[in-house]
Amino acid sequence: MNIIAVQGVSKVFRQKKGRRLLRDHVRDIVSRNQPDGFHALRNVSFTVSQGESVALVGANGAGKSTMLALICGLATPDEGTVEVHGPLAALLELSSGFHPDLTGRENVMLNAAFLGLHKRQALEKFASIVEFSEIESFIDQPLRTYSAGMAMRLGFSVAVHCDPALIIIDEVLGVGDSAFQQKCMERIHELRRDGKSLLCVSHSIPLVRELCSRAIWLHEGSVVMDGAVDEVMGPYEEFMLNPHGLRGGLRGAALPKLGARASSTD
Ligand SMILES: Nc1ncnc2c1ncn2[C@@H]1O[C@H](COP(=O)(O)OP(=O)(O)OP(=O)(O)O)[C@@H](O)[C@H]1O
Ligand SMILES: [Mg+2]
Repeated sequence: MNIIAVQGVSKVFRQKKGRRLLRDHVRDIVSRNQPDGFHALRNVSFTVSQGESVALVGANGAGKSTMLALICGLATPDEGTVEVHGPLAALLELSSGFHPDLTGRENVMLNAAFLGLHKRQALEKFASIVEFSEIESFIDQPLRTYSAGMAMRLGFSVAVHCDPALIIIDEVLGVGDSAFQQKCMERIHELRRDGKSLLCVSHSIPLVRELCSRAIWLHEGSVVMDGAVDEVMGPYEEFMLNPHGLRGGLRGAALPKLGARASSTD
């Protein structure tokens, strides 16, 4: 069963370039132009099945976080469709979902409610959430006083205690210290054994190799490769060590040759 189905997705960010005349807007509407648009994603398609653990990899600006934002419903695609079947818990950049003026305790309760727990269920799990995060002595302090790692500890702990069918992680594991990162890895392995799905973004090649069985490589908004982690990470690592080594980068003729299960037709 597919837990995520992304079909022909494009996302264009408009770039403001000063004032424009009304006739320019009318011309764009009539000709269906996308004025000053920047394609963060171009015709991206992939599916993630239940129990699969997939990494989205790619250089800075490749479109990874944009793709996760579409999957989490924080943005809408300009073309194509994104379907998610089942409850998801997301740990996105900048510990989204937490309010800086609320205490750790209040944020846990609020976040648990967003993730679908009733108040009674959240209260039952509260002690276990705080214990896992190991930040008991700060739990009644406002979140703005937390370090990035402390906020991530709490966010990860809430997410994994809410029994999501799919967990989405954008890079944030990197801000945890090595002891906590290890703990997160073990917990993610447990979730995988329980048949949960994982979609994660990371620049850490060892982390991707450890956590994921499949990798999707995005470059300038398009899928370059989609396949088994060992097939994709070799060429990806080679490219990242020497991004200008391939003549013309990954544009044009190089793209189809690299595609193992390339889903982008651009
Ligand atoms: N709200 C926005 N407005 C305009 N452009 C945006 C917006 N969000 C993202 N972009 C652009 O879309 C492209 C993809 O951004 P995205 O954040 O998805 O990259 P990324 O692959 O997550 O990169 P990183 O590895 O640095 O996190 C970038 O060029 C970025 O400038
Ligand atoms: Mg990003």
